[in-house]
Amino acid sequence: MRKLLAIVICLMLILCACARQAQPMEEDAEDSLIVVGFSQVGAESEWRVANTESIRSTLTEGNGYVLIYDDARQKQENQIRAIRTFIQQGVDYILFSPKVETGWISVLQEAREANIPVIVLDRYIESEVENLYTAYIGSDFHKEGEMAISWLEEFLQREGRIGDSLRIVHIQGTMGSTAQIGRTAALEQSIEKHPSWELVAQECGDFTRAKAYEVMGSILEQTTDIDIVYCENDGEALGAIAAMEEAGLSCNAKDGVIVISFDATRLGLQYCLGGKIALNVECNPLQGPYVNEIIKKIQLREPFSRMNYIDETLFDSFTITQEMIDERQY
Ligand code: AHR
Repeated sequence: MRKLLAIVICLMLILCACARQAQPMEEDAEDSLIVVGFSQVGAESEWRVANTESIRSTLTEGNGYVLIYDDARQKQENQIRAIRTFIQQGVDYILFSPKVETGWISVLQEAREANIPVIVLDRYIESEVENLYTAYIGSDFHKEGEMAISWLEEFLQREGRIGDSLRIVHIQGTMGSTAQIGRTAALEQSIEKHPSWELVAQECGDFTRAKAYEVMGSILEQTTDIDIVYCENDGEALGAIAAMEEAGLSCNAKDGVIVISFDATRLGLQYCLGGKIALNVECNPLQGPYVNEIIKKIQLREPFSRMNYIDETLFDSFTITQEMIDERQY
């Protein structure tokens, strides 16, 4: 009996020792996770939802991360507050998608003082703060606009309409955001270059379908003599098309209003296949893998590039197929 008791006590001691050893190992595993505080601008578009999902599905525990996510609901002050909270929490990295380009200097100085690397995602920030962030990952929005204009010029050339008087409506994205600034600049530069192109209305649609529907409705009360509608994202294009169709206009590159859009979401491309959006320039939201690559390089002290522009393409209503849409991830 005494022998049995001794064996049981021995076994219990061994189990306790094992349990004590297991604890530090778990703590070690947690310590080795990289903590990223991510301030997302909001959920204004399908593009944005896909962008958030790409970050969330990449910066997972399985990939070595703890992600602290904050949705700023389109308010810059919420983003600044979130970044300050990340600094207090002592995160390893701050990732943020700035609503607009200006107003970040103080908070980024605070991040630098706390030695926290900042990765700017999607939209850019004013150039004076270049030394206040570690890397940028996103789109070249001005190039996207230039791609749209080159396509339009080639299309009009083919149709024999390049010198015609063309009346353009412009629905802009969130004012002051890099996406708006770049895409707007490309259109305005092309209007300066073509004296027969006239900008008949320029309104902000805030990157949403509802706002674009509303502003397009008001524009149509002033005039229905419109040749081109240049919308700065798919949500806006869908809203503008709905308003135009209600007003009896047909959206069709060959014999109706030429609608140009950006993002190339599945829904936007479906409209392109149906001929209602003539051109859709891709803006790629799948940025999570790029963020992971940069952070892993920084961790390993490997060289990395500071400015990272994502390759993008375009789709037009004449060449798009259902197979192309089915292959898309967003
Ligand atoms: O900054 C990227 C832009 O923001 C996308 O074009 C738009 O859909 C989004 O809301």
